[in-house]
Amino acid sequence: HRSHRLPTMSVSAVGSFWLSPSPGKLPRPRMVVRSNAVSTPMAADMRAGLAVDGGSDLKMILSYVDTFPTGNEKGLFYALDLGGTNFRVLRVQLGGKDERVIATEFEQVTIPQELMFGTSEELFDFIACGLANFAKKEGGKFHLPSGRKREIGFTFSFPVKQTSIDSGILMKWTKGFAVSGTAGRDVVACLNEAMERQGLDMQVSALVNDTVGTLAGARYWDDDVMVAVILGTGTNACYVERTDVIPKLQGQMSSSGRTIISTEWGAFSNGLPLTEFDRDMDAASINPGEQIFEKTISGMYLGEIVRRVLLKMAEAGALFGKYVPEKLSTPFILRTPDLCAMQQDNSDHLDAVGAILYDVTGVKSDLSVRKMVVEVCDTIVKRGGRLAGAGIVGILQKMEEDSKGLIFGKRTVVAMDGGLYENYPQYRRYLKEAVTELLGLEMSKNVVIEHSKDGSGIGAALLAASNSKY
Ligand code: GLC
Repeated sequence: HRSHRLPTMSVSAVGSFWLSPSPGKLPRPRMVVRSNAVSTPMAADMRAGLAVDGGSDLKMILSYVDTFPTGNEKGLFYALDLGGTNFRVLRVQLGGKDERVIATEFEQVTIPQELMFGTSEELFDFIACGLANFAKKEGGKFHLPSGRKREIGFTFSFPVKQTSIDSGILMKWTKGFAVSGTAGRDVVACLNEAMERQGLDMQVSALVNDTVGTLAGARYWDDDVMVAVILGTGTNACYVERTDVIPKLQGQMSSSGRTIISTEWGAFSNGLPLTEFDRDMDAASINPGEQIFEKTISGMYLGEIVRRVLLKMAEAGALFGKYVPEKLSTPFILRTPDLCAMQQDNSDHLDAVGAILYDVTGVKSDLSVRKMVVEVCDTIVKRGGRLAGAGIVGILQKMEEDSKGLIFGKRTVVAMDGGLYENYPQYRRYLKEAVTELLGLEMSKNVVIEHSKDGSGIGAALLAASNSKY
């Protein structure tokens, strides 16, 4: 593993600021991801996780999704999506080959903070209640064929050990959730009990991770989709694997010879170069030592890393002279959408940057400070985007090793979704640049990185349809 330790991705730029002879001038980030310092250990960890359960930081979860939607799916299906800041419910009327998606309708609510720290019953009651209210409004273009029950594709975006296509045990919470009583339980049973309490008669036919839902949803339109990546509050990637290269299946091949694997790459850490800001944030988190890759690249954390850098700069007198704004010590006061808004500011005096800085510090800033702050944002976002890109290359590299030419020799689509990817142009650009740089122009020509907006809801509904009990 010697090569993994090579600090080829220099993230020391921000850290070494304090050693810089001229504080006040932040060195340009040297963020060169070279010689596959991330993608190669990522591919190696994937293999170790496929060999045996617990073989690596990457859980490489079997999804029990062995076939893809065909386009023939017909009828009314629901999807439930719990995974980050929002909870979504969706219904879709599928019309088969010719009509495909006839109509969709969805509702979205923000998950109340207190539910993230409450009990399992409270959280699942909230979900079931949202679903019941939504189901009541069914009408118009939506109708259930007679003799069928309303079936649900349940997107539950946390590490779940699947036990079948419609059951799975929560291994642990991520992304700031700390609900008591769910870990170790079948989340479909939790939902069923809550639906019973609501008097709601619906049936979960598929339980999927958001990456798996995204892959299935994107694949419905495009047969070349092989990988799906979520970059939102948290991050994860799944891909289409050959069952004959999954030792932990112990010879149980699927009839298609393929299956979707959810990598849970958020837990990756092998050789990742971390700064003091990463380490301190991790230590203060509710899951220290866990989800290290997620903590360096996903939406929940980028703002917090920047806040920690700015605080250190302020304490060193490099931001507002001797004054250290107390507010800046508040964890998570700076959010990733704030970074994004600051980086879109093209005005002469960076007025939007000034306004956001004022919000989080209570201090009026001059142009030079604003520029410095934007540079810190860019440094952290660039690192995140490039690391995500390197992770994608790791997956492609692993797939290519096992099926020579089948990945880079033809069009291969990586379906992307999540608020961070969708809303942060710089992040997107850095990610794509890293992929091209690492693969080289020739190989990257066939790799299409495509936004698949809200694909996971429809994907989950499609999987409910293809695994329908009726
Ligand atoms: C977290 C979850 C994972 C999910 C990802 C994106 O990493 O553990 O299951 O897919 O966030 O939402």
